[in-house]
Amino acid sequence: SHVLLLNGPNLGTLGTRQPEIYGTTTLARIEADVAEEVSSRGWTLVAEQRNGEGELIELLQQHGDAVGALVNPGALMIAGWGLRDALEDFAPPWIEVHLSNVWARESFRHMSVTAPLAAGVVMGLGALGYRVAAQALTRLVPPAAG
Ligand code: DQA
Repeated sequence: SHVLLLNGPNLGTLGTRQPEIYGTTTLARIEADVAEEVSSRGWTLVAEQRNGEGELIELLQQHGDAVGALVNPGALMIAGWGLRDALEDFAPPWIEVHLSNVWARESFRHMSVTAPLAAGVVMGLGALGYRVAAQALTRLVPPAAG
């Protein structure tokens, strides 16, 4: 059984991208932390980052057999309608993650077209948020599913 960790545009540069907002933890570190967290259920992790919406949609379509997913859509949260439709068709439970507290930022970030479809949202906790969300998944998914 596997969990899908999907990071959208501009998240591959975590570590050096606006560290005052996103912290200094690299995506590789986050992926390793999430892998460790989900291994408590015996699950493996498939971690992918793409800048393009189409590629993210393809990954969701390919991983419909995942036990669950963590998704940081980046700026696609605001108007990523294609990604939104792909998530609506994605059966496994998934949690939306944002490193920053988007409600404390510019008003254009106060909208997420994807969050209403998520089982839950973790935001504002930086890299730790991914770990928290991963732990939540390990408790959310019923034993039969994985
Ligand atoms: C983000 C918040 C988004 O508004 C922004 O476009 C990102 C990162 C976050 O993790 O805080 O790229 O998703």
